[in-house]
Amino acid sequence: MTDLDSIEQYAYDVLVIGAGGAGLRAAVEASACGARVGLVCKSLLGKAHTVMAEGGIAASLANVDERDGWRVHFADTMRGGQYLNSWRMAELHAKEAPERVRELEAWGALFDRTRDGRILQRNFGGHRYPRLAHVGDRTGLEMIRVLQDHGVHQGIDVHMECTVLELVKDGDRVAGAVAYERERGLFRVFSAGAIILATGGIGRAFKITSNSWEYTGDGHGLGYRAGAELIDMEFVQFHPTGMVWPPSVRGLLVTEGVRGEGGVLLNKEGRRFMFDDVPALYRDQTADSPEEGWRYTQGDREARRPPELLTRDHVARCIVREVREGRGSPHGGVFLDIAWINEHLSNSEEHIRRKLPSMYHQFMRLAEIDITKVPMEIGPTTHYAMGGIRVDPDSQMSGVPGLFAAGECAAGLHGANRLGGNSLSDLLVFGKRAGEYAARFANENGGTTIDGSEVRRSIDAALEPFSRDGDGTGAYQLQFELQEKMQNLAGIVRREEELEEALASIANLSERAQSVAVPGNREYNPGWHTALDLPNLLTAAEAVVRAGQARKESRGAHFRDDYPDKDPESGKFNLVVRRGSDGEMVLEERPIVPMPEALQQIIEEQQQ
Ligand code: FUM
Repeated sequence: MTDLDSIEQYAYDVLVIGAGGAGLRAAVEASACGARVGLVCKSLLGKAHTVMAEGGIAASLANVDERDGWRVHFADTMRGGQYLNSWRMAELHAKEAPERVRELEAWGALFDRTRDGRILQRNFGGHRYPRLAHVGDRTGLEMIRVLQDHGVHQGIDVHMECTVLELVKDGDRVAGAVAYERERGLFRVFSAGAIILATGGIGRAFKITSNSWEYTGDGHGLGYRAGAELIDMEFVQFHPTGMVWPPSVRGLLVTEGVRGEGGVLLNKEGRRFMFDDVPALYRDQTADSPEEGWRYTQGDREARRPPELLTRDHVARCIVREVREGRGSPHGGVFLDIAWINEHLSNSEEHIRRKLPSMYHQFMRLAEIDITKVPMEIGPTTHYAMGGIRVDPDSQMSGVPGLFAAGECAAGLHGANRLGGNSLSDLLVFGKRAGEYAARFANENGGTTIDGSEVRRSIDAALEPFSRDGDGTGAYQLQFELQEKMQNLAGIVRREEELEEALASIANLSERAQSVAVPGNREYNPGWHTALDLPNLLTAAEAVVRAGQARKESRGAHFRDDYPDKDPESGKFNLVVRRGSDGEMVLEERPIVPMPEALQQIIEEQQQ
């Protein structure tokens, strides 16, 4: 029996779980609103998937092309998301992103500059105009640096290497969280007037991913068990360009900024295969010759975009097609060539090193390849979950009073497919909103009471693996098996039989996870940590598969080989996943709220 008096306890107005861009921005805002803020991060502060958004922050500053504006950004985001997005979130995001970027600049963020000193913007897939404010290919890193600096100076309390196990409720309202710290294996209890989940994605449910070990769907699982709804879980983004060689770094991100700077995709025959298949939706905007595409990446306003800058879902599928049909690279990918710009630019090698310094070093050090001279080998990598906790678009509060979510673990903005660069602006816009509304909620509703028996239950459950003999299967083995199954059966191309098989595997793994045994002690025990991550990971995986089965069409990132077309009827609803009264996963089609006339008109105007 756990003695609660010996456990470290903390009380805050607002507890933020997750310290990537959304968590940090939320914490900064809640603190600026006068709330006492605690920030819990699973890893060391500063280590977040946000840094993998390398190429830039999407915001219609119109510094490079004055035709840009929030209306165009709104229409691009909705088209990219195939109209399953929350139109209200897309509207707020497009309107507020420029202000959030300027604010970041005022707080000290460095950006590449135009000749006249304004923030420089680059092209990215699905964005009509150059829209991504960037600093080389380290934009996410710079954003984290600035927010971290700002937050720490505001007096936010940071709990590093601390993982939340369970949320605790006071009646319907969320009241606190039980966590353990990795180093000593000791527990912590947090009580809070409001909680913001900002835990990022679910990438570790798949074998090939740009996500590091932290991204095990924690917010998805915590929110789900506390009664929040998940939405759009069938939509998992496979970024077209991850490293494929050497095997130790397979999946590591190769920024879309490479294509934004003119990089082209080639198959083993040296052919730009992206010209083979341009969807009708984009035909009027996409170049039909390599020369025109190149002119576009150079900021030529009359030229149309190269097909490499079509949306990520489409580019990833074209790569899979080339590989499957035998036209791939030696290690199962295709080629991404930025060195070809040598033909067009006199100082191209220096240009590449300046605009893509991380990519240059990444390939030089990890693959011994000089990207200024030869093509890279790349292939799709699991990058981002469009699905997550359903939130109110304005406040970011979930269906559970006092429980908010922001960033990747929340859903709505991106619909069926996220445009590159829209994640960093999402984190800023909705991180700020979550912080503001959570502080307001805590202030208006006062403190909470934590039920000791709930805390005890969750601690006892967390310690159980130490007391088991187990069946010999360790937590790593279960995680590995899950990743294999999800990659092979619920990846870029899906089929009913394979999803069925994936579901059966998840049921089997969930069963075995109940009896996982952990040897050793509580101090820095990664096997134990992996065992504790499993329930969240399995919940997220099950939600992806069940929603994937229910959506019998192909739309955005969800491609069904057995239903290859878009079904207009399926475009009228989002799929919602929630926990039923017996603990089973329940799925529901939720009709999309009709868009107001004024927004509808913007979309129509922008289609012309
Ligand atoms: O390719 C990239 O730089 C990633 C950006 C993003 O996911 O938004």
